Amino acid sequence: MKYQPSRLSVDKSLTSGKEFFEHMNSRRSVRLFSSDPVPQELIEIAVRTANTAPSGANQQPWFFAATSDPIVKHRIREAAEIEERENYEGGRMPPSWRKAISHLGTNSNKEYLDIVPWIVVCFAQKSQVLDDGTPQKNYYVNESVGLACGMFISSLHTMGLSTLTHTPNPMGFLSEIFERPATERPYILFPVGYPADGCTVPDLERKELDKILKVY
Ligand SMILES: Cc1cc2nc3c(=O)[nH]c(=O)nc-3n(C[C@H](O)[C@H](O)[C@H](O)COP(=O)(O)O)c2cc1C
Repeated sequence: MKYQPSRLSVDKSLTSGKEFFEHMNSRRSVRLFSSDPVPQELIEIAVRTANTAPSGANQQPWFFAATSDPIVKHRIREAAEIEERENYEGGRMPPSWRKAISHLGTNSNKEYLDIVPWIVVCFAQKSQVLDDGTPQKNYYVNESVGLACGMFISSLHTMGLSTLTHTPNPMGFLSEIFERPATERPYILFPVGYPADGCTVPDLERKELDKILKVY
């Protein structure tokens, strides 16, 4: 299949690249959500966008489970809080990790999982069964699923929605709740919605370019 994306003038590239950077630079993780509904179609667009990510051998080793069902969301909250209580209060979190996240002000209370209109969980597929029934091992799963999740988050941000990259580990409870096979592992839990009125986020700085790029 022929593929020839249109080439932009340098000026146009600069304008569009800078605009995209400003847009992405305005994205922040949100932990205080409004209960305002979000149409399912927006979730579908974000998942379709995630599905455009490059993947090892084009195996697309991801699966997204989405729910707006209050009962399911509550089950997820209860199970996540059990793990998070063990992490935050039960000593499972090593002191160095506790120190690293102390500026975020997070704790084991995950009330937003009840409030937010959608919870979307990305699962990483270690292997999959092809349409002809053949089992197939997937390669570069972590890298591929990370890229897909980045695109998912970017799509949500483009649509004016907010999310949080949430990892209430261990997350085996998500496989049970969504009845996913043992060949998949829960990768990231995304609450998706609009920020609550008066929502604030931690005051963070992003590294300067000279700390993350060296031109050789
Ligand atoms: C892999 C990964 C796991 C994360 N897990 C959690 C989490 O379990 N709980 C949480 O509150 N934030 C979590 N975060 C969010 C980070 O704290 C957040 O992205 C970081 O502080 C930068 O803030 P920003 O997303 O607003 O730029 C996670 C982020 C990543 C990339």
